[in-house]
Amino acid sequence: MIGASRYRTHSAAAAAGATGQPVRVSGWVHRRRDHGGVIFIDLRDRSGILQLVFHPEQAPQAHAAAERLHLEDVICVDGTVVERSADTVNPRIPTGTVELAVTGLERLSETEPVPFSVEDESTEPSEELRLTYRYIDMRRPRRLAALELRARVVRAMRRVLDDEGFLEVETPVLTRSTPEGARDFLVPSRLSQGEWYALPQSPQLFKQLLMVGGLERYYQVARCFRDEDLRADRQPEFTQLDVEASFVEPGDIEDLTEKVLVACFAEAGIDLPTPFPRMAYADAMRRFGTDRPDLRFSMEIQDWTAQAGGTDFAVFKVVVDGGGVVRGLRVPGAGEGMSRKDGDELMAEAQALGAKGLVWAIVQDDGTLRSPVAKFLDGLAAEFGAVPGDLITLVADEEQVASEVLGTLRARFAERHGLIPEGEWAPVWVEDFPLVGWNADEQRWDPLHHPFTAPHPDDVHKIADDTGAVRSLAYDVVLNGLEIGGGSIRIHDQAVQAAVFQAIGITPDDAEDRFGFLLRALKLGAPPHGGIALGLDRLVMLLAGEKSIRDVIAFPKTATGADPLTGAPAGVDDAQLAELAVRSVAPPQATDG
Ligand code: AMO
Ligand code: AMP
Repeated sequence: MIGASRYRTHSAAAAAGATGQPVRVSGWVHRRRDHGGVIFIDLRDRSGILQLVFHPEQAPQAHAAAERLHLEDVICVDGTVVERSADTVNPRIPTGTVELAVTGLERLSETEPVPFSVEDESTEPSEELRLTYRYIDMRRPRRLAALELRARVVRAMRRVLDDEGFLEVETPVLTRSTPEGARDFLVPSRLSQGEWYALPQSPQLFKQLLMVGGLERYYQVARCFRDEDLRADRQPEFTQLDVEASFVEPGDIEDLTEKVLVACFAEAGIDLPTPFPRMAYADAMRRFGTDRPDLRFSMEIQDWTAQAGGTDFAVFKVVVDGGGVVRGLRVPGAGEGMSRKDGDELMAEAQALGAKGLVWAIVQDDGTLRSPVAKFLDGLAAEFGAVPGDLITLVADEEQVASEVLGTLRARFAERHGLIPEGEWAPVWVEDFPLVGWNADEQRWDPLHHPFTAPHPDDVHKIADDTGAVRSLAYDVVLNGLEIGGGSIRIHDQAVQAAVFQAIGITPDDAEDRFGFLLRALKLGAPPHGGIALGLDRLVMLLAGEKSIRDVIAFPKTATGADPLTGAPAGVDDAQLAELAVRSVAPPQATDG
């Protein structure tokens, strides 16, 4: 890795290949064992671990100094690399066939007791503690591996895009509000008091301006800022691989994205087959109840509306007569040992997700159903292809509610009952999104993506009168049930843009006020263009086998958006606020340093 210096001739890993030679290595005291006189120390540097041996007779000074070493002290040692005897070879570490017989030791940095063990990865400190001491946490091989993988993934992205003629361009971080639909982080201006910058939710508007500027192929490893409620896969600042190209159609962006992803997966030793399957949004919703279907397992949502409408079960009849649907899931083996109470809990779970209720039924050994409403479920097991031990759940509701509830249950059942195969990768393109979604609170159509997304050419004529039925040229790339990227072809035609604004209730004045600068540019020679943004953190999380994007970000924030290491966010001086002409109306927070 890093070249030789005063401190080292070899890294720990490279030293293993230098048997018989004198070497100098530097690193941290990872582990120590005293064996009746002889002291063994595992030295750790970024490349790995090397066992050091201190003999009291052969190197009395170094041995005496080694007695005073603490875990995590930083040391520099000289010695000779020797083969270990067969019975002391350690097959668990790559350097396990050798050790360094130390002749000289210099302590470069003496360490106070560390807040948690680096060496013992079996105990996981609380996340608060890990993040407060992130620099200790990242000494642990698993964290380091995630950061190394992340760097390799970014390098692979750059390599592919550079080869394809894309130009890396940086866009501003102090800018105006961008239309990705989250809350903005605002920054007050000292030079224009009372005015605010917004941090970009994405480089969306700038990358479109770059296309108008004739750059044709742009990318950026871009930091994005969104003030949203945080989850395991959401951070207030995160990184996108942001891409835009001119003279392209959806398939061009999809092919390019697949190339990028194949290269990223190769960095993790995974061979990702292409082309990815493509699925229309409507099919994804109908079959999987979500626009990010996890295709590692089947368990598709099945329809029982026609049959349910013919039963005497009032609950079903009312829904079906009202134009609703009755749909359900067959969960293989999940009925095994299920009690009535378990069934009640399932029903409560569905209700918490927004269903009015849930019918559950278990196929018994004789093929009949056990269910509180078994008498109404004739033919259900056969229709769903269920076998003894299977659980069937049914939800009757408006189509969207039934789909969404079953979609969530599908993912949970798969997790709960171990139906997700290990080591499986299931990418899919979801396409033909609706252009807009109904915002019931505001009683208006909102863009599903952003207001510059192009409508599907076959649907343009419906924009004014049948807005909800218009599909867009947007696409998401979904991997194992996680949305890792999304993009679209943009509108480059002024008349279409005006029609879309009108349909979503943006008046010409609003439009001028919010994105006048972009609209002006679109009138001054805009090529057809489109692009995509990949969520780098999410992608690396999947590749690293982690459950949270916090584990693949060097200095992430907690679920409340705080950074326990620096103490951000924190109060500021009144003088600073005065300079910005900003006054806080919040009660002052207790500051702790
Ligand atoms: P979108 O909003 O879909 O599209 O974002 C693209 C991808 O970014 C990731 N992502 C996040 N990752 C971590 N934390 C977050 N808070 C977060 N929000 C989003 C997701 C998502 O798929 N400008 C458009 C792209 C385009 O149209 O070209 C955009 O930002 O993986
Ligand atoms: P009720 O008539 O409300 O006592 O419901 C009888 C059974 O039907 C219970 O098991 C309910 O959970 C179930 N149920 C009620 N509403 C629905 C619905 N919309 N979809 C599916 N099952 C329902």
